[in-house]
Amino acid sequence: MTAAASNAAAEALLAFWADAGVDAMLLDEPLDRIAAGRIAPPQPMARKAPAAAAPPPSPLRPAQADVSGAIAEARALAAAADSLEALAAAIAGFDGCPLKFEGAASQAVVYRGEPNAPLMVIGEGPGQDEDRQGQPFVGRAGQLLDKMLAAAGLTGRALITNTVFWRPPGNRTPTLPEQAVCAPFVERAIALVRPRMLLLVGGAAAKSMLQTDQGILSLRGRWREWRSSDGAMELPAMPTLHPAFLLRQPPAKKQAWSDLMTLTERLDRPERPA
Ligand code: URA
Repeated sequence: MTAAASNAAAEALLAFWADAGVDAMLLDEPLDRIAAGRIAPPQPMARKAPAAAAPPPSPLRPAQADVSGAIAEARALAAAADSLEALAAAIAGFDGCPLKFEGAASQAVVYRGEPNAPLMVIGEGPGQDEDRQGQPFVGRAGQLLDKMLAAAGLTGRALITNTVFWRPPGNRTPTLPEQAVCAPFVERAIALVRPRMLLLVGGAAAKSMLQTDQGILSLRGRWREWRSSDGAMELPAMPTLHPAFLLRQPPAKKQAWSDLMTLTERLDRPERPA
């Protein structure tokens, strides 16, 4: 086979995998975890008594892994950042979020938009386009978000970020420990930007920011109170539907629009003198 033909064959195979949703490669070489002894080889099926059910992990606490050290490190780094640029640099140099080594092909995706915006938009986590371009919400969902913000008169009045800064592999939802490790940076971004309110985009962002296990369909459309972990900051927060969901379910745009109207009505209301 000529070099050109083998390149074309490799490209066709990659395109086939991408169409099938395989768009991230985690390691250069396949890893035989059974041979490496990291996973027990499959055993012949044997009947055994059902194990006692483990109590379900609390949806509000990061249960899967002990991330307390990483959270403490993130807090220290975040506290030392005195500008958004310094915060972005601290995040880029932080190795405590496993996503950095799993899903992200290239870089940390931190924020875009106005550094002194009255509104902070917080989404779930970067996808493939964001990972490539290094900015949040730049793919199809992001383009829809921008159109919605523009239609609501919010262009140039928002800073956009996510609950995690590295792409989860295959665009899965970030886990609670992953979000918990990134949360000190999100809080610091809020402290630096000092927005008047938050727009929480999608269930994963709303649940993580509001520390609740309620679904987005019951959370959306009503004002909630976001509080920082030390209780020092409080902001009104509006949960709404994720634009990726709206792309799949266009009739739901009506609800997202109503959420945005509720938000802009409050944002545009003159602030009472203190
Ligand atoms: N979805 C998100 O939640 N965030 C992004 O940045 C892109 C898509």
